[in-house]
Amino acid sequence: MSSSEPLPLFSHARFERNSILLVVGIILTIAIGGIVEIVPLFYLKNTIEKVDSVRPYTPLELAGRNIYVREGCYLCHSQMIRPLRDEVERYGHYSLAAESMYDHPFQWGSKRNGPDLARVGGKYSDDWQREHLRNPRALVPQSIMPGYSFLEKTDLDVAHIADHLKVLAIEGVPYTPEMIENAKADIKAQTGADDKASAALQKRYPRAISRDLGTDKGKTVTEADALIAYLQQLGTQVDFKIYDDKANIR
Ligand code: HEC
Repeated sequence: MSSSEPLPLFSHARFERNSILLVVGIILTIAIGGIVEIVPLFYLKNTIEKVDSVRPYTPLELAGRNIYVREGCYLCHSQMIRPLRDEVERYGHYSLAAESMYDHPFQWGSKRNGPDLARVGGKYSDDWQREHLRNPRALVPQSIMPGYSFLEKTDLDVAHIADHLKVLAIEGVPYTPEMIENAKADIKAQTGADDKASAALQKRYPRAISRDLGTDKGKTVTEADALIAYLQQLGTQVDFKIYDDKANIR
């Protein structure tokens, strides 16, 4: 064998001259790498830590979430706090996978023209949220967020909310037939229409806020009411004090 001829086993020439073979080779190599990385995640128990307190969205929160998606709020706001010190100091405990396990589709996002919203629930009053949606610059003069004043002038369309719950149930969100049946009633209940209905709502959706989100005791439910209900529960489902003590994190 002359010195210019490479050993057959280590020859790249065959791949370099035949593009089909090269493509097959690349796919094979990437597939092996992918399998090695992905397959263990299906077997590791802690891929998604089970967190008991995470519950499905109430119908009102879900309707608000639909408006969030419709209006493209995710184009400026992420909903995922990364486990990095600056993020945790600014926004709070880093996000857990379990917190978005009922999100279809999830709203993690990667664009932050505005702050991350993963823990914005309870940070401001309902009135602040309402005024901020109406005219962000009334509260934050330098804000570049657009105003959404039409939301509080638009009645919430609840015609298909039970269907949405049904579809999510098929996708694995634990909505019971009782929850689906009561979807419309639960929307009224959550806007503070009456105490009995609100107790039933709390039973179905533990710790759901139910109060007069609008101004007229739930007589009319606007799109702004739904969006505020959604915003006010963001990041509030896990009590991190209990969680961290148990997991010995802090
Ligand atoms: C063009 C980008 C943009 C869009 C679109 C946008 N926002 Fe914002 N948002 C911002 C900016 C910038 C801020 C920070 C200044 C302020 O508070 O207004 C902000 C602030 C906020 C805050 C307060 C966050 C905090 O921790 O202080 C909330 C809540 C919020 N936005 C909700 C929404 C919702 C809901 C929508 C969709 C209806 C939306 N935003 C759409 C840019 C945007």
